[in-house]
Order: sequence, then structure tokens, then C-alpha cells
Amino acid sequence: MPKVTINGTEIEVEKGTTILRAAAQAGYEVPHFCYHPALSIPANCRMCLVEVEGSWKLQPSCYSQVSDGMVVNTNSERVIKAQKAVLEFILINHPVDCPICDQAGECKLQDYYMAYDAQESRLRTEKTAKVKVFPIGPEVLYDGERCILCTRCVRFCEEITGTNELTIIQRGDAAEIRPFPGRSLDNPYSVCTADICPVGALTSRDFRFKCRVWLLSSTDSVCTGCSNGCNIHLEHFRNEVQRYRPRFNPDVNDYWMCDSGRLTYKAIHNDRLTRPMSNGAELNWHGVSGTAADKLGRAIEDNGSLGFVVSPQASCEDLFLARRFALEVLGTDRIYVGGNPDGFEDDFLIKADKNPNTRGLHTIFGSAGELRGFDALIADIESGTVTSLYMMETQIPVAADESARFLNALDKLDLFVLQAQHHGELSTKAHIALPACSHAESEGTFVNFDGIAQEFDRAFAPLGESLPHWQIFMRLARAMNHKLTYTFVHQIRKEMFEDSAATEEASQTPAE
Ligand code: SF4
Ligand code: SF4
Ligand code: FES
Repeated sequence: MPKVTINGTEIEVEKGTTILRAAAQAGYEVPHFCYHPALSIPANCRMCLVEVEGSWKLQPSCYSQVSDGMVVNTNSERVIKAQKAVLEFILINHPVDCPICDQAGECKLQDYYMAYDAQESRLRTEKTAKVKVFPIGPEVLYDGERCILCTRCVRFCEEITGTNELTIIQRGDAAEIRPFPGRSLDNPYSVCTADICPVGALTSRDFRFKCRVWLLSSTDSVCTGCSNGCNIHLEHFRNEVQRYRPRFNPDVNDYWMCDSGRLTYKAIHNDRLTRPMSNGAELNWHGVSGTAADKLGRAIEDNGSLGFVVSPQASCEDLFLARRFALEVLGTDRIYVGGNPDGFEDDFLIKADKNPNTRGLHTIFGSAGELRGFDALIADIESGTVTSLYMMETQIPVAADESARFLNALDKLDLFVLQAQHHGELSTKAHIALPACSHAESEGTFVNFDGIAQEFDRAFAPLGESLPHWQIFMRLARAMNHKLTYTFVHQIRKEMFEDSAATEEASQTPAE
């Protein structure tokens, strides 16, 4: 392995390592715009120039590979002069409209100006005006004046999605990014271009002018849009999710996520069920637990007719307690599976299963007897086999006409208890509705399609009087004189992973 000395530090690196990566391994940051670890290396911005002993020219460190005995300096006088020159060149026509730019606070140009340049502009002429708001695609807007022509967006469309929508038009200071004639940036991953744009030239239509980024808190989480389980930064302000951004995990989603998954955060706040209800009247938790316990007790006496719907939208920890509640407290093994119906899939990240934890559900309920489908539930209610129903979450995995059939069938039930985040069409049918937290308000684990178990953290406190599913099950179990006692999610997790049925297929792989 070649040995290289960087700023006086000698390190050994893999053959073929670039100087930029070797410097990072030695603990030195080399500023860069056009380089992105998942894309090819055009070396067009020249921000990463470094001095290599024996070479008369400064070298682009993103492109040049180390060789044995190489001596590199990333902060010599020549390098600093070059960095200032590159930044001054980029800023000649840049509008410096940071106060109204969504990228401000997470902009490489802003950060590098402060760290490596900080000189006053010497420009005394007008800047070149370019397009300010160009709808380059349905989800992304382009600002030509802020664009530094690094081509990250062009390479993303060529190398990651293979959709080839973008190119550079014109030359010199008139050059801009555009879709090819008749095209638009409308691939399923288009907002990733805004993520990787190092400046505020590409912005997400959804996040535009919504919240200054320095106000956001970020929590490590997992997208619930499909069974791929892309790792995300769940970014929130004052108990409200503002956006999802992909979080690097080479085993699951690399640096990317899809546009539709990115927008699933909106459902967290829409139509939320925030107070317990009994026959349309709002109650407190104490009151509703007693009422639910009485009614469920009577339903249990009506042996064999109590159905229980579990949701692959819920975490493993929630489902572990759902299993104990159904089997030990309600005494039913008539378990049906809810969740979202299948949808679009591709051969990259998007999976047809639009639930984050189908695999976790099947692992946890594997030993609880036969899991029944939703069609069977509708038929069982219609035939009177099921006369009472306890249901987690409101998603229904059937087509629209079957869904209408289910809603009608609910009228036949003697008791319908709904434990869910949202009202939907179901809460008005429920005799008892119990408000549950979203994954943003609780912690837990999802097992993705590939069997990778991924933990997610709680971002903010439960909205209204909602509680995590596991706490609701504990509360009702207590009211029904059963002991189901946990204080923390990690206690459930420990027991769950010790339970051989629950660990059968899951393997714990911590996300980055
Ligand atoms: S729009 Fe952004 S990513 Fe694309 S070339 Fe311009 S600066 Fe680079
Ligand atoms: S591919 Fe699936 S998990 Fe990933 S962002 Fe899209 S919807 Fe979410
Ligand atoms: S990052 Fe090396 S030339 Fe752009």
C-alpha cells in the first residue's frame, strides 16, 4: 500500500486512493464543489487544488491518485492563493442573495467563502443576469445565477437514474443547466439533485421558503413509504416535520431516496387523531381505558368472534406488544394483516410493498398462528364470523371497491376499536378510537424487505394526547387486569430479540 505524507502526516492508504480521500483519512478537509463520492469525477471546479512536491502545477485532489512517497500540502501559500482565486472567480457573477436563498446555512459556497476567502469583491461592473426561477422539473426549481456549473445534477441523471434529462447549454458566462428539448427533470428521484447541488441553484419546490435550515433539528429515522426503508434525516421545527433528507447507508439507500417517499412526512400531520374518543365523544385516557376494557371484556366472552388487525406500518416493538395483547389479553389468534396496498416499484430503491415493516410483522407474528388477509376479514365480518374488531392503523390493503365493502361491513360490528394515528374514514365508524403516535413521535425498529433491522429515534413529543402503540396496549391490559409492563422501548427490544420467534429472520444492522 502506498505511503503518502499530507501536511507532514504520513499515512498508508489503498492503492488508487485519491489525494482528497487520503487527506480526509489523515484528518484534513480539502474544499470541493464538483466532487461527490457517488459520482464520476470531472474535476471541473478546481476548488480542491493542492500542492504536490515535484509537480510544478497544483493538482486537483479529487482526481489525482496518491503514489508511494508522495508529499502533499493542502494549505500552503500557493494553495490558499488558488482557493481564493477560484472562489473569487465563481463569485464574479454569483448574486450572493443568501438572505433569500433556501440553501443558506448549508451552502458550500457560503461556508467556503467564510473559511477560505473572506475578501471584498473587486467587481465594479454589472453581474451577468440569468434565469432566476426556472421550473426544471415538477419538484425542482433552478436558479441560473446561483449555479456554479459543477455538473453534479447532470451526472446524477446520467449515472444514478440513467434518465439523462439534463445538460449544459450556451458557453462561458452564459452557460446554464437545462433539460434537453422536450424533456423535464421528472424522474422518481429528481429531488436528490437539490440535495447534492452544492449551492442554492436547485431547490425543492416542497421545501422552498418554508423554514430556515438553522432552525431545524434533525433526527435519524427511516422512511415509511415502502419496504426499502431508506435512511433519512427527519428534520423538524416546533414539533412539525419540515422535510426528509436521505441519510447515507451503503447497505440500503446509499445517498438517495425517492421523491414520493420524501413527501410521506406530510401524512404525519394530516387529519391526526389527537384525543381518545368513545362513540364520537372525546374522553381522557383514564375514561376511555375503562370503557374499552368493559366492552372488550364482553367481546371476549363472545368466544371466537373477536378479530385483531395488525399493521405493517407499526414498529417491531409496537407489534411485539400487539401480539402479547391479542394472544394474552384478548385471547384471540384471529389475526388479520392491514397496511397499504402494493404500488409502483422500480429496479433501484422503490419497492411495491408500501409498508416499512412487513417483514418485521411476519417475523413477530410467525408463531402466533395463521395470519389472515384483509379479504378474509371483510368476508368474516359480512358472514358474522367476526362480530368485534380491534384494528391498528387506518390503512387498508385492498382496492377502492373492496375498501367501500369493508366500510359498509363495519356497520355490522358489535364493537369496533380503532387504535390509529389518523381519523381517516374509519374513526367515525369506531365505537372507540385511540390516538397513536407516528414514527416521528416514538422510537422503534423496522425490518426492511431485505431483512435489515433498522432503529429509528423519536424526533419530538407525541402530538395531542396520542401515545405510542405499545403504551396503549399496556394501558388497556392494565385496565383488563393483565400485567404487561415495560418502561422503555429498549426493554421491549431486548425481550423481542431474545424471543426466538421474533428474531428468526431479523439481523441487527445499525444504520450510519
Ligand atoms: S444546478 Fe447545482 S448541481 Fe447542477 S451544475 Fe449548477 S451548481 Fe451544480
Ligand atoms: S424507496 Fe421507499 S423507503 Fe426509500 S424513500 Fe422511497 S418510499 Fe421511502
Ligand atoms: S472538486 Fe476537484 S475539481 Fe472540483
